[in-house]
Amino acid sequence: MPKTEPGGDLPLSIVVVGASGDLAQRKIYPALFALFCQGLLPANFQVFGMARSAMDQPGFRTKIEQNLTCRYVPGVSCAEFEAAFLKRCHYLAGQYSSTDSFLDLFQFMRMVEGEGPVNRLFYMAVPPTIFLEAANALGNSGLVACGSSREWSRIVVEKPFGRDRASSDGLVREMHKVFTEESTYRIDHYLGKEIVQNLMVLRFANLVFEPIWNRQFIERVSIIWKEPQGVGQRGGYFDGFGIVRDVMQNHLLQILALLAMERPARFDAQAVRDEKVRLLRCVPPLALANVATGQYGPSESGKQRAYVEEPTVPSDSLASTYAAAVLEIDNPRWKGVPFFLGAGKALDSQVNEVRIRFRPVENDIFAASSGMLQANEMVIRIQPDEAIELKIMNKVPGLNMALQHTELDLHYKAAFDTLIPDAYECLLMDVIEGDRSLFIRADELAAAWNVFSPVLNEIETQKVVPMRYPFSCSGPENALGLARKWGFSGADMM
Ligand SMILES: NC(=O)c1ccc[n+]([C@@H]2O[C@H](COP(=O)([O-])OP(=O)(O)OC[C@H]3O[C@@H](n4cnc5c(N)ncnc54)[C@H](OP(=O)(O)O)[C@@H]3O)[C@@H](O)[C@H]2O)c1
Repeated sequence: MPKTEPGGDLPLSIVVVGASGDLAQRKIYPALFALFCQGLLPANFQVFGMARSAMDQPGFRTKIEQNLTCRYVPGVSCAEFEAAFLKRCHYLAGQYSSTDSFLDLFQFMRMVEGEGPVNRLFYMAVPPTIFLEAANALGNSGLVACGSSREWSRIVVEKPFGRDRASSDGLVREMHKVFTEESTYRIDHYLGKEIVQNLMVLRFANLVFEPIWNRQFIERVSIIWKEPQGVGQRGGYFDGFGIVRDVMQNHLLQILALLAMERPARFDAQAVRDEKVRLLRCVPPLALANVATGQYGPSESGKQRAYVEEPTVPSDSLASTYAAAVLEIDNPRWKGVPFFLGAGKALDSQVNEVRIRFRPVENDIFAASSGMLQANEMVIRIQPDEAIELKIMNKVPGLNMALQHTELDLHYKAAFDTLIPDAYECLLMDVIEGDRSLFIRADELAAAWNVFSPVLNEIETQKVVPMRYPFSCSGPENALGLARKWGFSGADMM
């Protein structure tokens, strides 16, 4: 996609709002450091952190340093890179809702930046309840206004974007008073993952898959996300959102859109996002009958506590830590093909994968000699250990005709002799280069909420009680029931 644009040669200031937080420390600074090590940041860049916590410059830099890794510059040179990077990291404490705090920040930045035009990237790494007040204070301070048409100001906003369609629309409207849609980069970090980006290449750069990528050949699709940990210290945040808003409405639905959309007219931000929106508009709102929700209880050994015993989670919480949903796509390509989405915490493994199950072969000529044929299946594993596997029937070598389901597999680590970048590296690079293809456009966000908003509203107004499941199990029983009703098996949910 086009990577050059006006102002690309100017100095760059990256402002991390919420600089003391988990995301900033674990993801944003390490990703910026990785880009710096590879020479991918503009020569003249500075990073400014802002949060309420009191910290001096050395304390701030020590905190950042703890998470920097030297994978791009192994060996002795790393310390030099770290020192050079940390010298460009600055911190100023302030209040997110205070225009004065942002005016102070502006003054501080100008002292460091010096004279002349500067591009500015604002990263909102604060809880979603703070986004808007921080953006308003930022706007009121004049920090966003461009001095000349060569400069740009961009804002990066993290999910979740609102709690439902109405609150999301309100957030979009209010944020547009400060940043235009073109300057707004709504991150879904799953879109920055290598293998998720590869979905379009797999489909549209290979001749063999596209002709069979439809209801005639594909029987069912499952998209699974499992995490072995509970919510830990993030219970307060999680309880206000639940697993559907935290994982399904964004990460899993984005994967579904890339898997199922039509071929874009071009490989650029507008054409790709147009096709995703068109696809999402063909997904009818989810019905309550096609949803199963769960909440983890304690582990059988008693070592792991139940969700409602986690710190800051109310003891009568009805939040779902597991959800399964079956979506349909009402268009000629996919009509009748069920898409099973399953996401849960405190489960038996860490996995995120797509399983595409093809229809069985008709007129099985081997049935008499070798038993039942198994249908082809493609597994796209997003994490851990990125891989693409295609399960096909093969003859087992030998004198009789024995057939076996075997795998053609592409394991990224074995196939590519290269470092797999973290999703945040890729996405931050795209923001700097002005490439919006991997970010969620406002109409795409609205279409995604249309699928989930009504059912979330129903679940909350009817106070639907999620089914308890033991910590570290494979998922609640009601999810298996829902899966079976639609022709999926337990294996589709592994
Ligand atoms: N962490 C992740 O891996 C991750 C992944 C995907 C998306 N996200 C999203 O990224 C954003 C930031 O996540 P995070 O995990 O970094 O959040 P966080 O650590 O909970 O919060 C970031 C900073 O915001 C300030 N803050 C926290 N609670 C606040 C409150 N109630 N009022 C005012 N300020 C408060 C704190 O800084 P001060 O007290 O110093 O002001 C904190 O260091 C969120 O929208 C989250 O949903 C996070």
